Amino acid sequence: MSQTKEPPLMEKIVSLCKRRGFIFQSSEIYGGINGFWDYGPLGAELKRNLRETWWRAMTREREDVVGLDATIIMHPAIWKASGHVDTFSDPMSDCLLTKKRFRSDHVDPQSGVIYRWSGAKEGDEAARKESQLALDAPSPPFSVLLPAGKPPESARKVGIQYYQQRGFKSPELQGETTEKVENSRAFNPENGAQLTEPKPFNLMFHTFVGATANPDDKAYLRPETAQAIFAQFKNVVDSSRQKVPFGICQIGKAFRNEVTPRNFTFRSREFEQMELEFFIKPDEAIEAVCGSVFAWSEGADLSVPQDNWGWEMWHRYWVAQRTAYYAGIGLGADVLDYFWQGPEDLAHYARACVDILFKFPFGTEELEGIAARGDFDLSAHQNASGKPQDVFDEEVKNAFAKWTAEQKAALVARKQAENQAKAKGSLPETKITEWCERLFKGFYVPHVIEPSAGLDRLALAVIAHAFTEVEKTDAKGHKEVLTVMKLHPRIAPVKVGVFPLLKNKPELVAKARSVYDLLKPHLTTFYDEGGSIGKRYARQDEAGTPWCITVDFDTLGEKGLEAKDTVTLRHRDDGSQERIAISELLGRLLPLV
Ligand code: GAP
Repeated sequence: MSQTKEPPLMEKIVSLCKRRGFIFQSSEIYGGINGFWDYGPLGAELKRNLRETWWRAMTREREDVVGLDATIIMHPAIWKASGHVDTFSDPMSDCLLTKKRFRSDHVDPQSGVIYRWSGAKEGDEAARKESQLALDAPSPPFSVLLPAGKPPESARKVGIQYYQQRGFKSPELQGETTEKVENSRAFNPENGAQLTEPKPFNLMFHTFVGATANPDDKAYLRPETAQAIFAQFKNVVDSSRQKVPFGICQIGKAFRNEVTPRNFTFRSREFEQMELEFFIKPDEAIEAVCGSVFAWSEGADLSVPQDNWGWEMWHRYWVAQRTAYYAGIGLGADVLDYFWQGPEDLAHYARACVDILFKFPFGTEELEGIAARGDFDLSAHQNASGKPQDVFDEEVKNAFAKWTAEQKAALVARKQAENQAKAKGSLPETKITEWCERLFKGFYVPHVIEPSAGLDRLALAVIAHAFTEVEKTDAKGHKEVLTVMKLHPRIAPVKVGVFPLLKNKPELVAKARSVYDLLKPHLTTFYDEGGSIGKRYARQDEAGTPWCITVDFDTLGEKGLEAKDTVTLRHRDDGSQERIAISELLGRLLPLV
């Protein structure tokens, strides 16, 4: 008997997403476009639900966070000030043989023997005579990495292909040397051919604003939503009556011309971000107001923010908040992990950064980053725009008014020492003194904690987490594998399926329709009368619908008054069924979504 090959989990997930209308390839009828994805009917609902849960948790349920909805195209000066124009790039290398493009730091490290040739000469007499050019043109050096266990001829074959592409009919490789190498990223893992030296490739998509399309009109599609929050910080402060500490959050599209989009929607070129910039006082202001800054230690109570929290407690607080958010939509501690960046990985202005990771089928990868970014962003916009981004804090002014001159001098000296000790990004002494003087008067540029999550990555994470296969045996004894999408009810695209037992009994259909009409205004509900009840359950299981309701003859009262106006409520995850009065349905289901 032939055995069918088990497709890897990601292939099954991608296939289900297309079959059931979660995610489609963008522009599929024209062959697709790499790094762009569309959400089908179920995917659109799922994404909307995720967006909703984030927005609710981050702003509606809080007093200290407000929302923003900014444009995708903003003044290009924003991206210059933020550093994106100069430094938002990935290293890129091309295969010298196939021209395939790689993100240099994503090439799998390889070990083996490098075969190098100084060039090639034409070995075909006729071709040599025919083409003086081929004879005279200096051929470039080339190299191939040969993995252990492969014959040298296979490296030479790749070398010959390379020179054939450069016009040689029958190239003879010249000046061969070899060298052992370990963990090199300089060769194409697919064919061993040499890659070009890494070159920075700016990830921002650009366009032109206005009809003339001259270089002065160049603008960028935002590569992150965060910068609009910084650019509108002052307007929000002036219009919302929020005081530091407080946050501004935003959900919206972001665009990055990723060198190698991959892993389905994980690394896309167009995606959605959900970002919060939470503005806090500098620790020195807390020290003045509260006497000292509460130091974080393992087990510290992070449940309710306190006045004496400095940046580290706020950072830890947001890691805890975001972890609780994920648990609330079904992604518990068993599927999450954390990567704390070491001092060598941190940007010079960042104090700490942790990635919340999810165990995707293709590896444990970043779902969200939570960074403590100091006052870098607002200060950068203050310097570039010339518009002050600091706030005045009466409490801080009053606290410093009680400090002695010696205390103030000690703080200035401490700040100078901290600044001098910095390996990167230290400031001139006068800037530090100026900063302290402003602080003593109650003025400071707020520092920021930034939890930044990807909506599409989250959608992929919940889809991967929900994907479950169940083996069932049908009435004829045939085994089949069914997919059940165990999505948390809060995010499931459809909450309830409503079915009449039989579609050719008008009384059953009418009753089922009335149950549908009852639920529809409150819960996303799907009416289905096609096929056996088992098939209808299976369809809803694949869609991730947590509950199905069947209207049968008991509902109509045919088995007595006791069962009249009751329905079967079937639970997706264990297939269990119970009888419940129609009048109790909403009260039972609404609190669960
Ligand atoms: N403002 C900070 C910022 O943008 P980031 O780590 O570059 O930080 C934050 O992005 C989140 O956005 C990531 O954790 C990820 O969830 C999502 N993200 C980033 N690039 C993405 C891409 N190419 N495709 C899908 N999601 C992406």
